[in-house]
Amino acid sequence: MYAAQFLSGRVALVTGGAGGIGAAVSEALAASGCQVVAADLPNRLGATDTGGGIEHVALNVCDASDITHCVQGVVQRHGRLDILVNVAGVVSVGSAQNITEQEWDRVIDINLKGTFLCCQAVIPVMKQQKLGRIINIGSVLGKNGGNPRPWLDPTEQDRAGNVAYGVSKAGVHIMTSYLAKELAAFGITVNAVAPGPVASAMTTAFPQTLKDLIPVGRMGKASEIASAILFLASPESGFVTGEILDVNGGLWSD
Ligand SMILES: NC(=O)c1ccc[n+]([C@@H]2O[C@H](COP(=O)([O-])OP(=O)(O)OC[C@H]3O[C@@H](n4cnc5c(N)ncnc54)[C@H](O)[C@@H]3O)[C@@H](O)[C@H]2O)c1
Repeated sequence: MYAAQFLSGRVALVTGGAGGIGAAVSEALAASGCQVVAADLPNRLGATDTGGGIEHVALNVCDASDITHCVQGVVQRHGRLDILVNVAGVVSVGSAQNITEQEWDRVIDINLKGTFLCCQAVIPVMKQQKLGRIINIGSVLGKNGGNPRPWLDPTEQDRAGNVAYGVSKAGVHIMTSYLAKELAAFGITVNAVAPGPVASAMTTAFPQTLKDLIPVGRMGKASEIASAILFLASPESGFVTGEILDVNGGLWSD
């Protein structure tokens, strides 16, 4: 079992830290004794004042120099960076026929390239420490081809994640596998959590017909995603790497 403050002395960077899941992850890490830097877009700062052990900083994960500056700042202020949780992301809805090239690029840039750039930025720091935990947020939609059933109800497609979103998250999953192998010899684990539908700003339009498909009978809570992340962030999870952990209420298993 874990000691109450089992992450005492550790430092974590959580991107998307002002969002539903990001705030829950930040709170869970801080409650476990970790110093947390919760990073989000400048216009989101102050949206969630989570208090003790959590420092809020501005970060756009689409801007490589912003990421470098953010990571350097964490190390300068706190002396190390042990845990990176890549939570920043956006959803996209609507049909493959109608998605614009700009929307495709926006989703891939934030969800996939942004996640990669954040991973890349922490590698030298974690290698030097010979210790690191990288946890990415994928999605069930990166595995199951999407939840909407347009052959039954065309409106579902307009209220749930689409092909661009699913492709971005499938990319996050395979990136996780690659980095896990590349970094395993340096004491760095790389894993992902693949949530099913979680109640947050991202899912306010999620149709009831799709909620009804979740075997546990409800959407997930952000705190339930945070609990899975806490395990992957823990010192005891050192033999788990390259795992894409489903946390989806039974919606999909592989
Ligand atoms: N809610 C769900 O059902 C669900 C399911 C599977 C996966 N996810 C994933 O979980 C993560 C968090 O989602 P959430 O439900 O908390 O949504 P959310 O919208 O509450 O949080 C997303 C956060 O990411 C931030 N963000 C967006 N673009 C950014 C950028 N360029 N730079 C920095 N930050 C940026 C937003 O400002 C926001 O605070 C996302 O990656 C999402 O794809 C969510």
